[in-house]
Amino acid sequence: MIIREVFDPYNQLCAIEGLSFTRVFIAEDRGGALGFVETYVTWIAGHKCGVIYYIGVRPRAQGRGIGRGLVKHVEEYMKKLGVSFVLASTVMTNRRSRCFFNKMGYYEYSTKELEGLLGRRALSVIIRRLYITKDDDVILIKPLRYGKPTPKAQIVKMLVSSSFGKRLFLKH
Ligand SMILES: CC(C)(COP(=O)(O)OP(=O)(O)OC[C@H]1O[C@@H](n2cnc3c(N)ncnc32)[C@H](O)[C@@H]1OP(=O)(O)O)[C@@H](O)C(=O)NCCC(=O)NCCS
Repeated sequence: MIIREVFDPYNQLCAIEGLSFTRVFIAEDRGGALGFVETYVTWIAGHKCGVIYYIGVRPRAQGRGIGRGLVKHVEEYMKKLGVSFVLASTVMTNRRSRCFFNKMGYYEYSTKELEGLLGRRALSVIIRRLYITKDDDVILIKPLRYGKPTPKAQIVKMLVSSSFGKRLFLKH
């Protein structure tokens, strides 16, 4: 099972649990599965958001564009569902995962940075929506519906800037 090949025991458990509430896409060749991605759709401040819960590629198949293909596929699927933002999370020490998501066009925020930009309440809503696992301290966000390049701080404010978002995050 790929999950056991790529994750530590704690994340194996979370990823296995994720199979029960996510939509899973699998990349395979004639020899079998090479990679997988677990996804679901949620709402943040009135925006329909897609979440990449776990993604993994077999070690022997890494660096061959399989992760890229999986994420591209998920983004196309999410666009069809009307999703505005795709989010993922990881740990600061997982440089490979961070480089990968950065290459795929995701803006990276440490949880501290997000707290500074949005406040603790908004951050805790995002953390709950992402079912963030215990160590994750980096959140990755890609807007799917905004064509022109937008400053990083602006992206995350857009995420919480709907009228519903103002009610949700600013009233308390
Ligand atoms: C992260 C992961 C899914 C990437 O999958 P992959 O198939 O190896 O990645 P790809 O070959 O599609 O690479 C896509 C881009 O990311 C970049 N990238 C991938 N691994 C990288 C690394 N170690 N360092 C720097 N960049 C990297 C590649 O350069 C590539 O860009 P390019 O095509 O312009 O060269 C895979 O390494 C993995 O399964 N890691 C272990 C599990 C994990 O940490 N998952 C993420 C947290 S849930």
